[in-house]
Amino acid sequence: SASLPASVAALSLQSTEQRSQFAGCFPTLNPMDTYREHIATEIGKALNVDAQKVYARVAWTSTLDKGDLSLPVASLQIKQNPIELAKDVVSKFPESDLIYPPTALGPHVQFFCKPQPLKNTVLGRVLKEKAAYGTNGNQGQKDPSDPSKGQKKIIIEFSSPNIAKPFHAGHLRSTIIGGFLANIYTVMGWDVIKMNYLGDWGKQYGLLANGFKYFGNEEALVKDPINHLFDVYVKVNGLVSEQDGPIKELKEQIKTKKEKSEDVAELEAQLAKLVDVSEDEKARRYFKSMEDSDPEALALWRKFRDLSIEKYKQTYARLNIDFDVYSGESQIKSESMTGAYKLMEKAGVSEESEGAVIVDFTKHGAKKLGKAIIVRKDGTPLYLTRDIGAITERDEEYHFDKMIYVVASQQDLHLAQLFKVTELMGHKDLASRCQHINFGMVRGMSTRKGTVKFLDDILRDVGDKMHEVMKKNEVKYAQVEDPVKTADVLGITSVMVQDMTGKRYVKMARSSLQINSMLIDHYSVNGYDFNLDAMTSFEGDTGPYLQYAHARLCSMTRKSELDVDDLVNANFDLLTEKHAVDLVRLLAQWPDVLLQTAKTLEPITVLSYLFRMTHMLSSSYDVLKVIGSEPDVKQARMALYAAARQVLNNGMRVLGLNPVERL
Ligand code: ARG
Repeated sequence: SASLPASVAALSLQSTEQRSQFAGCFPTLNPMDTYREHIATEIGKALNVDAQKVYARVAWTSTLDKGDLSLPVASLQIKQNPIELAKDVVSKFPESDLIYPPTALGPHVQFFCKPQPLKNTVLGRVLKEKAAYGTNGNQGQKDPSDPSKGQKKIIIEFSSPNIAKPFHAGHLRSTIIGGFLANIYTVMGWDVIKMNYLGDWGKQYGLLANGFKYFGNEEALVKDPINHLFDVYVKVNGLVSEQDGPIKELKEQIKTKKEKSEDVAELEAQLAKLVDVSEDEKARRYFKSMEDSDPEALALWRKFRDLSIEKYKQTYARLNIDFDVYSGESQIKSESMTGAYKLMEKAGVSEESEGAVIVDFTKHGAKKLGKAIIVRKDGTPLYLTRDIGAITERDEEYHFDKMIYVVASQQDLHLAQLFKVTELMGHKDLASRCQHINFGMVRGMSTRKGTVKFLDDILRDVGDKMHEVMKKNEVKYAQVEDPVKTADVLGITSVMVQDMTGKRYVKMARSSLQINSMLIDHYSVNGYDFNLDAMTSFEGDTGPYLQYAHARLCSMTRKSELDVDDLVNANFDLLTEKHAVDLVRLLAQWPDVLLQTAKTLEPITVLSYLFRMTHMLSSSYDVLKVIGSEPDVKQARMALYAAARQVLNNGMRVLGLNPVERL
């Protein structure tokens, strides 16, 4: 599989002997830390302040013209006008082998690295460390000063589709974001558990099971479980809506008659009969038998579930994702839920209301969370109840340090209620270890009407489109070994990159229109009508453009006919052009970009870095030619490009993309 090398995190643990005097400083992993260390030490001496404090404030820059590192001096909290202070720092900073004399820009001091040592460190590192360059296994250590204490553990719950319903855009986004988060935590040295919490329980499975008796077909089920079950689901829901009409009508009649104080006994008997034979009621009864562990009912349900999981696994594999755990609503033990009721009762959190058990959050300092039903009148648990059971089960089973739920912002309230209940039940610490990562959702898609498409169909459509685009360049097309496979990878890349472009979830979730201004442009109201042309274009900041940049670097390496393993011995002094130096400076930032990403948890942090790099590469090819240059220069330039390819590859993999070598 193309998932991250398991050794990556271990590779990048810094040994105790190499430890810096500064906390969070790992010079053997992050070349910029050497510079930070140097700057902090000198400023500490010059201003007579705590160097560690300075260290923590020396920041990376988002554009190279602002320097390689920058210090906003106000953050030092020294009682002096920041503009004056910046000038002061500049004048007192000693001469250095590593950096040019700093410059002051308003309240900032900017530091530019001298190219010579930077080139040697960065290019040497990238070419030697390869996939491990940029990773930092220390971040996930329980105790960074004592590796024997082991790694921190995180559960990332994501994707979580509902069996028999379509895998919609929300699940796709959850899958892409969750996979990305799993990668980020892995390269930061955490022990990551990827969990899929399937919607695999509830009355709709009764409906589905009955529907299968009318419309189902064993052969079709085995062949294509997800599509077939969905077909059945749509058909049986059709029956429900048909029956709904007359039931509603009768109810109306009863109401009007009652208002006129007329006798309704006969109508009510009629209504009871209709309800009794309705699919909805049959589904309820079927589900009851599942809850009561009726073996036959459970066997059919289990078959649906197992077949669906098999199919999901194949689709996830296309996205470079494999789950460690397939959990689901069905898996939550009733003891966990009854245990929770008892705790709530004991803590005075829950109360009775019209025969049901509810939590009234407004009485517990959380006005915005309203009220939630925990146990229905008929004694059955709800979606929220199962999540409450699940959170405690997971805590007991995994002893995690952190848990992330990657779920659409439509469920903001649900997760806020879950965390609050957990806290109110007395598990404050558990609640504080949980986080909801949300994102905007596409509107206008209904499960029941059956107008939506499945993920596999989307990926196929986009792959086909990519194939067409590739065919337009006949010469190149002829050179691609397995065009269908390549088109498939490119298609998946298009979908993923377009989904990760634009800022996440949280801040944008305010207005649903705005959240998805990007998505709504691309999907039509009747389902997924991607703007295929835009996302499959090789121009602009698209997935294919990234793939193209990677493939081009691979092709250069092949054509150069140089020994790749020897590139690390190239004479980097020969890389004198501004283009070359800037590229090195950018490659030096990669470890910082990853660290920053571990804070923002936004794929766009990585993506925009990669686009900066690919733009820089595009403008370098004419200036820094490989073919036709003197042998020494040729080797040095090739080393630079090989290092760029490596970082591009590392970045694409963190995003969950499969970099292609030929295009
Ligand atoms: N299956 C749910 C849905 O599709 C998402 C599950 C989210 N996770 C959770 N723990 N509630 O809406």
